[in-house]
Amino acid sequence: MARLIPVEMIPNSLWNKEDFILHLPPQLISSWEMLLDKYQLREKASTEAPEGFEGGMSKEDTDNHLAWRFTGSSARVMLTMLDPLQELPQIPDVFARIFSGNKVFLADLPCGSGAASMSILSVLYELRKQGKLPRMPIHIVIVGGEISEYAQNYAKEAIDSITTELEAQAITLEFDIMDWDVCDKFSNTDLINQLRLRSQNCSAKLLVLANFSGFLEKEKKWKEASKQFDELFRHSRSENSVALWIEPSMKKVTYESGFFTRLIDWFKKLFSKLIEEDKEIEQKRYDPSNPVRVKHPLVEGTFRTNVAVVRLELPLRKKKQS
Ligand SMILES: C[S@@+](CC[C@H](N)C(=O)[O-])C[C@H]1O[C@@H](n2cnc3c(N)ncnc32)[C@H](O)[C@@H]1O
Repeated sequence: MARLIPVEMIPNSLWNKEDFILHLPPQLISSWEMLLDKYQLREKASTEAPEGFEGGMSKEDTDNHLAWRFTGSSARVMLTMLDPLQELPQIPDVFARIFSGNKVFLADLPCGSGAASMSILSVLYELRKQGKLPRMPIHIVIVGGEISEYAQNYAKEAIDSITTELEAQAITLEFDIMDWDVCDKFSNTDLINQLRLRSQNCSAKLLVLANFSGFLEKEKKWKEASKQFDELFRHSRSENSVALWIEPSMKKVTYESGFFTRLIDWFKKLFSKLIEEDKEIEQKRYDPSNPVRVKHPLVEGTFRTNVAVVRLELPLRKKKQS
């Protein structure tokens, strides 16, 4: 399986191989600090989050999430891309496969303040800048969906702030952040229409759903939301389309009766007809046991993070043999 980059080639600016510490990409840090300063959140971001804080859609929750959770969310996405401890076979190759095209599509749902898109873009940028990935021109089309208007704005500002710099590494962007409520079928259909329109002529599609189980499980929204996911996943199928669902590795996500079991059961039911025709349609789940230390960008020391991830293939129907 081709990884995005072999572990020994991950630059020290992203992964310190001597002390096993993950470093957030410099570009992502400067963009995050720009937002912290603009919205007077630097002091908060230098303190520890209260136990159990997950965020929400109000201004206060969005600000707190940006200050306390943006870096953790970003680190989790980095772990899925780089997999420095080699615990996620078949995950980094998704990034190798998707980002080898010259026009590719990324859906970031819910995008929050843009942590997933920002991590993917700034890791690709850093790898190219350090000469670890070839600088072939790549055009990345991003559609983010998010219910909080405050988070939508942060995501726009963050991605905007790195667009010009990315061009120096032959990465060009178009992006659109949509108002999306996973519990509302009309807003979901609007999102799907936009995904379809924007992903035309893209050689590959990646759907990233990150850190959403807290909302779906805590507020008991899964039942309501799953109808919209049915539609979203059915319409996201194409020749080369993959969804990654990324969460912190917590019991309520990874245990037998946890969120990932529910997610995979739902997927198997939704795609049962296709899975019957093609047994190789993949639903892989990984829950590495080792937490990883991440260099804190603002204060001395590190924080810990971990990741659990599910990979879901979103294939078209197999053509019948004549
Ligand atoms: C924990 S954050 C994760 C954001 C981002 N994916 C990340 O990893 O940083 C959860 C996000 O879900 C959004 N959200 C909550 N309810 C939603 C809904 N009904 N539809 C869409 N997004 C929602 C919140 O506003 C928040 O930005």
